[in-house]
Amino acid sequence: MTKIVISGTGVFTPPHAISNAELVDSFNSYVRSHNEAHAEAIAAGEVEALQESSAEFICKASGIEARYVMNKSGILDPEIMAPRLPQRANDEPSYLAEMAVAAAHKALARANKTPADIDAVIVACSNLERPYPAIAVEVQELLGIEGFGFDMNVACSSATFGIQAAADMVRAGHARAILVVDPEICTGHLNFRDRDSHFIFGDVATAIIVERAETCTAKGAWEIISTRLSTKFSNNIRNNFGFLNRAAPEGIGAKDKLFVQEGRKVFREVVPMVAQLILDHLSAEGLEPASLKRMWLHQANKGMNDFIGRKVLGREPAPMEQPNILQEYANTSSAGSIIAFSKFSEDLSEGDLGLICSFGAGYSAGNVILRKQA
Ligand code: COA
Repeated sequence: MTKIVISGTGVFTPPHAISNAELVDSFNSYVRSHNEAHAEAIAAGEVEALQESSAEFICKASGIEARYVMNKSGILDPEIMAPRLPQRANDEPSYLAEMAVAAAHKALARANKTPADIDAVIVACSNLERPYPAIAVEVQELLGIEGFGFDMNVACSSATFGIQAAADMVRAGHARAILVVDPEICTGHLNFRDRDSHFIFGDVATAIIVERAETCTAKGAWEIISTRLSTKFSNNIRNNFGFLNRAAPEGIGAKDKLFVQEGRKVFREVVPMVAQLILDHLSAEGLEPASLKRMWLHQANKGMNDFIGRKVLGREPAPMEQPNILQEYANTSSAGSIIAFSKFSEDLSEGDLGLICSFGAGYSAGNVILRKQA
């Protein structure tokens, strides 16, 4: 079978960071002014008093210490508590396309490729800036790539689903090389007034080049040995924002038009699903878990990753066996495992095996087993 490789990766990190302390300060001022404004109703038992958030809780429950964002001032303003990103004119690049292009330039440079070598663009992410035209087609235009492009969304698993789609298309001869980009402005769908989840997400964009081994000139590329995807319906992570909202105007602006989750249930249900997917996939490929030098896992929760690592390896994983980046980036949806892969893969040696694994809403999960090339 034709050998397919990932020959380059790139990460665009937004310039602004928000620490847990800054986020909690803003949240708690909102809580105090809400409780003051509703003091009488709260005393009468008509309105529930809001509770303050805590930086210690956030770090202990999730491992998240900070996040990068596309707009800091709007998120931290207790009167706004949302990013403020003025709508781009039709003749300007969209935010997602701009971030994707910044990540793509890095991936192209690492892969020794120019846009002329790429035949397709896949934008794989959780939140698309508009329904059409596809962001991928705009990225194609901005980079000067011939061929075709399309957007796809499998929530936090979008990147691995995108990699499988790209690898299959390159193998089938539909493209020589494909750019898969995961631009995520997760702060756009995060309810910063919800104590249970206001700390979860950050913004970023990642890019990957998928091509045939025979066209690859980059050193230290990663052969895609095998991919495996899985989905199982669940309402535990959900967002009801969509084009039919205007047909039911009574629901516009309601909490369910942003990200909502049952965090505990997600934790409990997704950990075994993902661990089993990894174990079954390795076994189908005749590989022992111990043969994996590294796992680049989805970056939602440190405790979740620790559990998955223990179930897969049957022992406590060493920190560099499954490096986390969520302490710095928070959950960046589809991009998380790719940031970890991009930042923590160059030190491995020829022949080493690794696994990218993403998981999230759907539920969805995806694996990419990789072997390092010379
Ligand atoms: N500050 C302080 N306390 C908080 C808080 C905050 N921001 N948010 C919740 N709490 C409190 C709760 O009220 C609860 O208090 P109680 O025990 O008195 O009832 C307690 O902390 C535990 O809350 P819970 O929501 O059960 O916390 P948790 O340990 O499950 O952690 C998550 C919450 C979201 C970090 C965790 O469930 C998680 O990461 N789940 C997986 C999510 C995931 O992977 N999602 C995928 C998204 S793509």
